[in-house]
Formats: sequence, C-alpha cells, structure tokens
Amino acid sequence: MASGASSHANYSIPIEQGNQFLEIRQSHIHGTGGYARQDIPAGTRIIEYVGNYISKAESERRCEADNAYIFTIDAEKDLDGNVTWNPARFINHSCAPNCEAEWDEGRIFINTLRAITTGEELTFNYGYDLEDFQNHVCRCGAPECPGFILAEEYWAEARHLLTQQTASRPPRATNSAA
Ligand SMILES: C[S@@+](CC[C@H](N)C(=O)[O-])C[C@H]1O[C@@H](n2cnc3c(N)ncnc32)[C@H](O)[C@@H]1O
Ligand SMILES: [Zn+2]
Repeated sequence: MASGASSHANYSIPIEQGNQFLEIRQSHIHGTGGYARQDIPAGTRIIEYVGNYISKAESERRCEADNAYIFTIDAEKDLDGNVTWNPARFINHSCAPNCEAEWDEGRIFINTLRAITTGEELTFNYGYDLEDFQNHVCRCGAPECPGFILAEEYWAEARHLLTQQTASRPPRATNSAA
C-alpha cells in the first residue's frame, strides 16, 4: 500500500481526501466539508476522528487560540484533530445531522444515523454547550436550526435567552420629522 493512503478497501484514496465513504470538498454549509462517496447504510462506521491527545491545560490554550477541531475525551485529556491525516476534521455540524460521533475507549468514530445517499453532505451535531453560544452561528439550513451550533438539549434555553435579550433591548429611535 502506498504510504499515506487509507487502510480501507479502496486504498488508492490518499488519506487527506477521505476514504471509500468520505469525500472532502467545498461545502454549502461552511468552507470544506465531507460528502458521501457512495450510498451508505444506517449504522455504518464512516471514519475514525484521529489526531493528537493533549492535556486539558493545552486544550484550553488551543481553544482560546480558536482551534475548532478539539474533542473532549475524558477528565484528563482531549483530542486535537487539526492534523492533515484527519480528514474527519472537515465534517461540518448540522442541527439535523445524518451522522453522530461515538466515543469508544478513548477513540472517536463518526457513524451514520440513517441511510445516506451518494453526494449528501455528512454532518454531526458538535454538541456545544451554551458558553459563548452566540459566537457560533449555525448555517446548516435545517428547518429546526436554532441559529447557533448547540447540542439539542440547549436549544430551548438558547431561544429563551435570545427572547429575553430582545425584550430588554431599548426601543430603536424613530426618524420622525414631527
Ligand atoms: C471542524 S471545522 C469543520 C470544517 C470547516 N468547514 C473547515 O473548512 O475547516 C469546524 C468549523 O467549521 C465551521 N462550521 C462547521 N459547521 C458549521 C455550521 N453548521 N454553520 C456554520 N459554521 C460551521 C465553524 O467555523 C466551525 O468552527
Ligand atoms: Zn443549525
């Protein structure tokens, strides 16, 4: 097998370009995204999300430097997937995702939630909490999207906070000639 190629069945695909399930190309949601290279049944393990394991302190430093590729692993360590050999890092968030992240003994895998058709963009819910949620505007386009990248359990609270903000805002000055 050529060096740097995927270890999956179609080993002619360089790892930076995905694998037999995952194709990396420009996304309609944001920047670069991951797309289905073939029809994929529900419950399929698409790819492992790989990278470097880092301490919590290092993770905090990298998050503050706007690294958007870090996954929580456990109480001691996180996984920084911002490496060229991790094409899974391009998979975007959606509020109506067709994949999910699975934690398995300190490793992370991206699995399909339902049957997926060739050419569909692959997405999962990033599971963000409410901290600074207004800095993470979501452009997934799903009808149920609350407008921000958030775990579904926080949608109601986010909508409530936004309503409160709107209600407490002073009325806009009107341009009246009277
Ligand atoms: C792990 S990267 C995903 C790959 C990214 N599209 C790229 O080109 O590098 C995560 C970043 O992609 C963007 N992103 C992912 N999903 C998004 C969404 N639904 N709406 C808006 N931006 C999104 C955000 O900037 C987020 O911090
Ligand atoms: Zn959304």
